[in-house]
Amino acid sequence: MLTLCAASLARAQAAPGPTPVPRPGPAVAWDEVASGVWRATVGVPDGVSLLDSVAAPPRHDALRRLPQAAFPLRREEIHAEETDGKVALRIPLAPGEELYGLGLEFRSVRQRGTVKQLHVDHYGGTDNGRTHAPVPFYVSSAGYGVLVDAARYVTVYAGTAVRKDSEHPPPVKDRNTDPTWTSMPLADAVEILVPARGATVYLFAGPTALDAVRRYNLYSGGGVLPPKWGLGFMQRVRTSSTADDVLREVDEFDARGYPLDVIGLEPGWQSAAYPGTFVWDSTRFPDPAGFMRVMTGRGVRVNLWINPYVAPRAPIFDALRPLSGSHTVWTGIVPDFTLPETRRIVLDLFRREHLRLGVSGYKIDEVDGYDRWLWPDHATFPSGLSGEQMRQLYGLTLQRATAAMFRERGVRTWGLVRASNAGAAPLPFVIYDDYYSHPDFITALANSGFIGVLWTPEVRSSKSGEEWLRRMQSVCFSPLAMLNAWADGTKPWSFPEVADQVREVMRLRIRLLPYLYTAFARYHFDGTPPVRAMALVDGFRVVDSAVTTAPNAGGDPYATATRRDVKDQFMVGDDLLVAPMFAGQRSRTVILPAGRWYDFHTGAYAGAGEIITATPGLDRIPLYVRDGAIVPLLAGAPTRVPAAGERIDLEARHYGDAPGRFDLYDDDGVSFDYERGAFSWTPLVVDRDRKGRLRGSVRRPSSDKPFGYRDVRFIMMPTH
Ligand code: GAL
Repeated sequence: MLTLCAASLARAQAAPGPTPVPRPGPAVAWDEVASGVWRATVGVPDGVSLLDSVAAPPRHDALRRLPQAAFPLRREEIHAEETDGKVALRIPLAPGEELYGLGLEFRSVRQRGTVKQLHVDHYGGTDNGRTHAPVPFYVSSAGYGVLVDAARYVTVYAGTAVRKDSEHPPPVKDRNTDPTWTSMPLADAVEILVPARGATVYLFAGPTALDAVRRYNLYSGGGVLPPKWGLGFMQRVRTSSTADDVLREVDEFDARGYPLDVIGLEPGWQSAAYPGTFVWDSTRFPDPAGFMRVMTGRGVRVNLWINPYVAPRAPIFDALRPLSGSHTVWTGIVPDFTLPETRRIVLDLFRREHLRLGVSGYKIDEVDGYDRWLWPDHATFPSGLSGEQMRQLYGLTLQRATAAMFRERGVRTWGLVRASNAGAAPLPFVIYDDYYSHPDFITALANSGFIGVLWTPEVRSSKSGEEWLRRMQSVCFSPLAMLNAWADGTKPWSFPEVADQVREVMRLRIRLLPYLYTAFARYHFDGTPPVRAMALVDGFRVVDSAVTTAPNAGGDPYATATRRDVKDQFMVGDDLLVAPMFAGQRSRTVILPAGRWYDFHTGAYAGAGEIITATPGLDRIPLYVRDGAIVPLLAGAPTRVPAAGERIDLEARHYGDAPGRFDLYDDDGVSFDYERGAFSWTPLVVDRDRKGRLRGSVRRPSSDKPFGYRDVRFIMMPTH
């Protein structure tokens, strides 16, 4: 427990002799709360927890299956003290250790040597901690993770704050004469300031960084398993679209042979927006039930845009008025979703107006900020939460409340949200935003995997066909393949010069469903993020040090700033490395982890633990597959993800020379029966026969287990 160091400091200062060195507060006391997860309470936390806002029970069974791990740091080196009415924590860092996570940042992956104030906000172009998911969790290359569970604007000095009693101080350098002098001498600890009288802190063991991330995800409740249709293609239509426009658009997708699983309606489906009414507009959607019936018949789901700010003319306005905050947003009241009565009123309307008709999910917009239109920090809410606390967890509470409605009907949902935070792994939402840099969107994709959130580099518009195609290629390798045409009315075929290539990559996306769905099953069952940065790949560090552009500055063991930040390539599942191209690029370098890697498209050998140059031409996105990997694809050219109970042929591609095995996951794709054991893991195996030839085999699950595949055809990809 925290005791204040101020008193001992005062005593020491009164004593004669040399000026005493202030020590940080006493060591923190930890309890092991799950296998490889320790919790400490420092000071008196304010009782508002991010993890409790999601309220998903830890997956103890899966946590126990991870490798046994000891407490990953020296306990006596972790300290906390109260200062200025806040709590400061100090967690040691070793030389050469790198840090990742600390929110959904867009421009950097490596975070050692940065300062962040983690604050829910729309990303504004600077990696300063203000972002859509400012998750106060970091993972170290040394194989452990730290979470500060506080709904506060937590400031993290990620190896920048150097104490004068530091055990491993950075070397003193003379700027006049020493060219290796740095403006950023790195510290031997992370220091964290929580602006509250206490905080709950968690430590997650490895042994690897990926294991620490797995433990964080499992402790949060395990990763989400989307409905299969959620991994298909989503088209969001222009905000003013009518029911007839939407039906014509579905016709056009089908006539042109472009995949389509979900239509997203933007603000115009409502009778008023900004603030909203949550009821259908009778001019644009005169017969919502009829419209929904036709859409369901076409096999296309409907997702509704909302933001939570309630218009005076909304049917629930009067009931919600006493249950809302002190300030308005765009003249709408702000419901306090932490109150059960608020949830009851809002969700009753949603059930009646939306779910009963077959709506499949929501896009929860504008729960992030900017400051200029959101409530101020001194806003008050009827639950007693402060404006600051509400800001940090508003997105989480809306995700949880709306997801619960679908769960009570026994169907999975899949939607979008613009604000999230710690503990979000089990929530069926993908983050998006209005910031529209293609390269930075890829960095966000890499970062999402450290912090238990999902991100889509959505496509809206482009200056050229080339940019359009490059963006479409990227989004097809993300958790949500989506074109958001709310403003421009763009279609996948809007740039005729690349319309065929766009259709091709959209079809590849659908065909990859068995692979993608299995990657998500791993997220659910063992916490492995489906999309992740290279830093979480085994064998990548070797290559990472190979690209060091300069030796550690002047022998400073804490200077990591010269190392290259790998932020333009990422992994999908265990075996697929994605290296997007950006408009204007004719070639790019790709860093291949250790082991042999092969070109996904051709099967040709690409390299091993080295930097290669890719020149794929415009038609293709560079994709690489590990030696021995088996990538299962749907056969043919489906334009919808298979429906529950539908059986479809499978193509299992084998890459390289090594034998391999892929455990293919399947279930009904829509319900929660998998939580009660209704799923199958089917080994697809490639080994060599007596003559040394590669051959494939499949051990089908018993007939009482769901398995949506008919023939399984193995294709041994030629390696040259
Ligand atoms: C934005 C949102 C867009 C679109 C638009 C509609 O804030 O990010 O995707 O939904 O609102 O007004």
